[in-house]
Amino acid sequence: MDQHDFATRAIHGANFHSPFLGNPISYPIFQTSAFSFETMEDWLEQSDHPDKGYAYSRGGNPTVAAFESTMAQLEGTESAIGAASGMGAISAAILSIVSAGEHIVVTRDVYGGTHSLLTNVLTRFGVSHTAVDMTDLDAVSAAIRSETRLIWGETISNPTTTVLNIPAIAEIAHARDIIFGVDATFTTPYLSQPIAQGADLVAHSATKYLGGHGDLIAGVLCGSEANIDRARQILLNVGATMAPFEAFLLLRGLKTLDLRLERHAHNAQAVAEALAQHPLVEYVCYPGLSTHPQHAVAQQLYKNGGGFVSFVVQGGLATAQSVINHLKLVKRSASLGDAHTLASLPVMTSHRSFSPEERLARGIPDGMIRTPIGLENSTDIIADYQQALDSVAASQR
Ligand SMILES: Cc1ncc(COP(=O)(O)O)c(C=O)c1O
Repeated sequence: MDQHDFATRAIHGANFHSPFLGNPISYPIFQTSAFSFETMEDWLEQSDHPDKGYAYSRGGNPTVAAFESTMAQLEGTESAIGAASGMGAISAAILSIVSAGEHIVVTRDVYGGTHSLLTNVLTRFGVSHTAVDMTDLDAVSAAIRSETRLIWGETISNPTTTVLNIPAIAEIAHARDIIFGVDATFTTPYLSQPIAQGADLVAHSATKYLGGHGDLIAGVLCGSEANIDRARQILLNVGATMAPFEAFLLLRGLKTLDLRLERHAHNAQAVAEALAQHPLVEYVCYPGLSTHPQHAVAQQLYKNGGGFVSFVVQGGLATAQSVINHLKLVKRSASLGDAHTLASLPVMTSHRSFSPEERLARGIPDGMIRTPIGLENSTDIIADYQQALDSVAASQR
């Protein structure tokens, strides 16, 4: 299977076979809490060899295992573990590596949930962290201490679309024997292959592009057998494992991942270019634009610029709020990677708990609108933004 192209592996990754039931094209949903055994001896045998069968779905489930092995194939890793959410996968990654007294170097614009885990939870257990601008490689090196065990970055950050130079950071991490983990939610295995580029662990909020239809919450972590076994133990203990129905939806989502990501990126590029032309727009953040500060790195590392655009309007929060309220097709909503184009104001949603100074230090001014671009016709998305921006501009004259 490894020799096949991405799309073929995504479609053919999970195959079910039973001598009695044959070979269904779609992998079945094993919607069961537990499995029973003919004898106690059989049960014991399964306990001693968990890879040979299933006992209880928190510890393992065939539909979830089919999704995990498909993800491992797509990421080029030995192993993968499904989680109840993206935060479940990220928590498992971090908790499986660091212990009390140890330290993490994290990207300054890390996802808010990860920031909260590091700041509000892990500090209580003696794990400290330093947030740095990961486009500044000297700053990454300078933040490393003797007790640093993990460097954690994001392939493309939310909402500023900062691009991570994975090979450069991997080199810094490995020279000091530090594990390098990457949240690749924005790029998926279709746009980038972080493991081949030097990362040790790859986490995704599968809620987003992997599912692709805005109808599930899930996560996945990919890496070496040894790292994933440790993460599996954490997930088993905290109980944040993936449910079988989510795994089924994800296996379905993966079959169209390449098609969807091409369309997301095609639309995002067109929307970003159109937004950049509007007089009310100060600047647009999209790695596919030549004006993006890491455009060259993105072109080198990622298949395309992805589906996520953010932009800043003149006039701050009041103008941004008015623009977003004028949208008729685009939905005011959180999340991303959905078939629908969505929009939100980071200042009033994801970054509400940050002070204005903290937001500015992260490159998030009050007038920023984040808009994950969906799969609609790009002309319709652009027309909706055009009418919203024109209406607000006219009302300001
Ligand atoms: C980059 C990134 N990582 C992780 C998460 C968390 O994922 P979940 O909501 O599935 O827990 C999100 C959610 O928006 C995200 O954007």
